[in-house]
Amino acid sequence: MSGKRLAKLPLSMKNSPPERSEKIQRNDPCWCGSGKKYKKCHLAADKQQRREGKDAPPRLDRIERSSEYIEGMRRAGKLAADTLNMVDENIRDGITTDIINTWVHEYTLDHDAVPATLNYRGYPKSVCTSLNNVICHGIPDDTILSEGDIINVDITSILDGYFGDTSRTFLIGDCSTDAQKITAVAEECLDIGIQAVTPYGRMGDIGAAIQAYAHSMGCSVVEKFVGHGIGRQFHENPQVPHFGKRGHGVKLIPGMFFTIEPMINLGDKDLYILDDNWTAVTIDGKLSAQFEHTIYLTETGVEVMT
Ligand code: MF3
Ligand code: CO
Ligand code: CO
Repeated sequence: MSGKRLAKLPLSMKNSPPERSEKIQRNDPCWCGSGKKYKKCHLAADKQQRREGKDAPPRLDRIERSSEYIEGMRRAGKLAADTLNMVDENIRDGITTDIINTWVHEYTLDHDAVPATLNYRGYPKSVCTSLNNVICHGIPDDTILSEGDIINVDITSILDGYFGDTSRTFLIGDCSTDAQKITAVAEECLDIGIQAVTPYGRMGDIGAAIQAYAHSMGCSVVEKFVGHGIGRQFHENPQVPHFGKRGHGVKLIPGMFFTIEPMINLGDKDLYILDDNWTAVTIDGKLSAQFEHTIYLTETGVEVMT
């Protein structure tokens, strides 16, 4: 994992520029999601295909997945989604974010799974709870939820070695127009992002669609954190930026599993990380909201796993 810019890792992302969508380079991660450099993976095969005058070699342009793998991802995704629904049914003002952590932790273990975030690169809890101006990676503590708060709850479960990753922003009681707006825009951004995914399309199609909508609503898109490939590891290639250009970036190949998880800000897109080395907050203190799904791309379209 070293040396690569990985998704959603504050330490490795902090000093690196966000990925700009370009034609794939020799040292880029291969489009197929293997995690290898392009030059060590599909470069030679692609060159051969081009010599034969073919643009998109169909036989190489897919990742073979066993039915066991797909079923494993379905079950992990469903458990993460069920856990989030459990939170939805119980979340209210007056509780602490630590209580949400306990709910998620116990529910996950009760279902023979493990919370992926616990001890992940030193992260201390079983869920991320990101309140108001927190963009992501908020750590549960004794903070009490009050009416008018918005809070993102981000759940990642490991079931039989497969990962499911999903999040939603909840409105606590009556919320300001701004809070309602940013939450609705973020949810819509996820939806629009999913709709932009097509087999043999490009990663940039997703970001471009999200960005256009967010900007049309006067909101900004966080660039320092991105979605990610997912499978039998938490964060895999490819990266999934929530900004970009249509027709650019990694090719979207049937067989890919990845998350889309736009973080949308009411004000500036920039952020800083608190002294706990995790909590990412908006630079201007304004609200931020996020929604996330794990998706599976097939020859015919998208299956939402969460
Ligand atoms: N669930 C987050 C994501 O969507 C990652 C959280 S990593 C943690 O990718 F360590 F902060 F928990
Ligand atoms: Co994720
Ligand atoms: Co997540």
